[in-house]
Amino acid sequence: MDKSKRKAIIAGNWKMNKTPSEAKALLEEIKPLVADADCEVIACVPYVDLAVAVEAVKGSNVKIGAENVHWEEKGAFTGEISTGMLKEIGVEYVVLGHSERRQYFGETDETVNKRTKAALAAGLKPIVCVGELLWERECDITEEVIARQIKLDLWDVTEDELKNVVIAYEPVWAIGTGKTATADQAEEVCAFIRAQLAKLYNQEAADAVTIQYGGSMNDGNADELLGKADVDGGLIGGASLVAEKFAAIVKAAG
Ligand code: PGA
Repeated sequence: MDKSKRKAIIAGNWKMNKTPSEAKALLEEIKPLVADADCEVIACVPYVDLAVAVEAVKGSNVKIGAENVHWEEKGAFTGEISTGMLKEIGVEYVVLGHSERRQYFGETDETVNKRTKAALAAGLKPIVCVGELLWERECDITEEVIARQIKLDLWDVTEDELKNVVIAYEPVWAIGTGKTATADQAEEVCAFIRAQLAKLYNQEAADAVTIQYGGSMNDGNADELLGKADVDGGLIGGASLVAEKFAAIVKAAG
């Protein structure tokens, strides 16, 4: 399938950065720089910034995402946030299964799957993150790891629901390390993910899924990474906190 028929998506993942007033200021900087973007532009921000962020981007082409969501609708889950809470304030996307959640907060493929199902049921678009650890790559099991994550994280997700799923391939060794996967390495795994989706669903459904690369993507390497056939966008950490750098990546996707 012609890559240009898939939606290119550049999403910032702000992680635990920016207070609400700082978030507003950064979005005000970003908005004019990306106003004529050809791709979808998203900022995924901390929970407490969400309401301010949704307000700040009103009338612009920037969409807002959260960085996680719980799978239950409500109840005794101290510290958690539900899909209904996100929906009510106008959040459209949610990052799920980020490697930092898997590494530091006990996230498993089972819980990523529960969150993904809940997000889809509520009308939120999940950005489901997968990726191998360095030692898994060194042991040459990248494909096994990715195939397992894709199968488990998307378990019971229907072909219709898949239309609202974005996959982010983020090799864990490349996140926040300044070590980017080469464009060929990124393409190899993104193409592998698409092949897995074709196996689990069908080729047409797989061809329509936006697959992002993430891991030290910046204004210097975005062109080459986004030039690859199966790399349809980026999930950007560090560089998304600097308006000019983020805007340059958005431009590279256009
Ligand atoms: P990075 O983070 O761009 O800072 O490497 C990417 C991510 O974790 O989504």
